[in-house]
Amino acid sequence: MLDVEVITMTRIGIIIGSTRPERVGGTVGRWVADTVRRLGTDAIDLIDLAAVGLPFLDEPSEASTGVYVHEHTRAWARRIDALDAVVIVTAEYNGSFPAPLKNALDFLGPEWADLPAAIVAYGNTSSGSRAATALLPVLSGLAMVHAGSLLLGLRERRTDAGLTLMQRDEEMLGSLIDRLRRLTHARESRRTELPADRVLSAAGRRTDIAVGAVK
Ligand SMILES: Cc1cc2nc3c(=O)[nH]c(=O)nc-3n(C[C@H](O)[C@H](O)[C@H](O)COP(=O)(O)O)c2cc1C
Repeated sequence: MLDVEVITMTRIGIIIGSTRPERVGGTVGRWVADTVRRLGTDAIDLIDLAAVGLPFLDEPSEASTGVYVHEHTRAWARRIDALDAVVIVTAEYNGSFPAPLKNALDFLGPEWADLPAAIVAYGNTSSGSRAATALLPVLSGLAMVHAGSLLLGLRERRTDAGLTLMQRDEEMLGSLIDRLRRLTHARESRRTELPADRVLSAAGRRTDIAVGAVK
């Protein structure tokens, strides 16, 4: 006999928002991914914008229409639509966040809507706070749900070995991911309680896995 239990799994995307060679973003992104992995069983999609390689926005229709003519946009839309939550890892460049990140956000519309988002920002003088602040109206414009921000000052964390993250960073990231997960689950249960015509876009974001046990 086959007992089937349905487990809802959270799929967390981690977007590395800087694309230059030798960037710190890769190290921070991998640290976030490792921490998420250590904290639980979430599926992770580590999204490196340098590898995604989107051109400058080249869609003829506004992203809010969800009408995309280019395959690179459709592939990007599928990748984001598969997520339940996202962590945006961002550098601070000239008091804001990097242009490739803005471009990647501008490419899509409905796929971002209602998606819980945490920010992990880093920088020198202001620890990424201006990048995180500049992201907030963008997230709001895209109807994303901000779960909180973690700021990392690079100066205190640079060592001969490269970037060394502190125990405190680990704890604060843990709390942020916990909040992101709780927000995701709260929104999921609310969505399942709503009548179908009140459910916003996010169909297809849940990953339901059937786990079978042979007795
Ligand atoms: C174009 C550029 C602009 C920068 N502007 C700032 C800034 O405004 N504030 C800050 O704290 N650090 C600034 N920095 C330093 C970066 O935060 C630091 O180099 C960081 O490593 C960049 O992230 P990345 O290595 O992932 O590209 C800037 C760096 C670059 C390359």
